[in-house]
Amino acid sequence: MASSTDFAHLPTTYVVGNLTLAPNIVLAPMASVTDSSFRRLIRSFGGCGLVTTEMTNASSVSPKALKRHRLLDFQPCEHPLAMQISGSDPTLIAQAAQVVEQLGADILDLNCGCPSPKVTGGGHGASLLRDLPKLSQVLAAAVGAVNIPVTLKFRAGWDAKSLNYLETAKRAEAAGIAALALHPRTREQRYTGEANWHWVAEVKQAVGIPVLGNGDLKDAQAALQHLATSAVDGVMIGRAALANPWIFRQIAQLRHGEPLFSPSPWDKYQFLQSYLAFCLEEMNERGTLNKLKQLIGQLALGLPNSTNLRAAVQHAKSLAEAQTQLEIFFAPWDGLGSES
Ligand SMILES: Cc1cc2nc3c(=O)[nH]c(=O)nc-3n(C[C@H](O)[C@H](O)[C@H](O)COP(=O)(O)O)c2cc1C
Repeated sequence: MASSTDFAHLPTTYVVGNLTLAPNIVLAPMASVTDSSFRRLIRSFGGCGLVTTEMTNASSVSPKALKRHRLLDFQPCEHPLAMQISGSDPTLIAQAAQVVEQLGADILDLNCGCPSPKVTGGGHGASLLRDLPKLSQVLAAAVGAVNIPVTLKFRAGWDAKSLNYLETAKRAEAAGIAALALHPRTREQRYTGEANWHWVAEVKQAVGIPVLGNGDLKDAQAALQHLATSAVDGVMIGRAALANPWIFRQIAQLRHGEPLFSPSPWDKYQFLQSYLAFCLEEMNERGTLNKLKQLIGQLALGLPNSTNLRAAVQHAKSLAEAQTQLEIFFAPWDGLGSES
């Protein structure tokens, strides 16, 4: 196992357009998860240099459409903030990009990785990997429409027979994209198999713009290890932050040779209470209950009898009922927070 001294030499910042992002550890966009409530809590724990909204379809980014959802709502404490949009129509993308800039995003991120048939069916997300000339048009339209930096998050190709991550990266750089984040799986893989970090390292060698790697970074050690071995400018963390929202803080501690914060079950309970309180400021009880149902499985992972808790929350008919289940489950750890 590597020690903190092995990580002391690693870069801690990277530059995207006119922004210096520090530290170079980023929260990945996750639909239904990285809402403003979640992002604010991640920010409050420290160690995260950039947070990203959930993916939003470019056709839902007009001023009129924004009245129907809150996907791009945010609070000042979230800066620097990237807003992610998806789309395949250059005109629509350019219009959405301008709205995103007016809303106050620091970075516009374009999605070229979502594998969901609902998204690829419309030619968005990973589907653009099958039409790189179209992708170039989309990227150029976004870059030309705004003054904020535009970044691209992408997968390695549509399937194993059509790996085109190097060409995608080079086209993105040529179109004026300010930084890249590669999740090194194909669309066909979805989330199966393992992220291939060799592809990330290859992209870093192939372009002059900053490159982030993303995929399967399960803990602080893995994050810094991959930052070191792939020589990328930063790393992006998704699912691990659901089970452990303190992972960003732990990465900072590992760099500095400090003991790692070890969240107790009670810390998780406190996290859930803060999250639910934030959600209730923005949505009704039903919406908040749905958010809890989405998060609880991952957040409770590793706790004794967590499957019981998960089932109880999933069956809850009201937020009050779910809260009662949380109270019963976490009562044995009442007040037992972590000390580090
Ligand atoms: C629930 C969920 C929602 C996601 N939503 C998005 C999204 O909106 N935009 C996007 O670019 N990637 C999305 N992703 C992919 C993640 O950003 C990330 O690329 C992927 O999970 C691999 O990183 P990880 O192993 O650290 O989780 C999502 C992933 C999950 C698990």
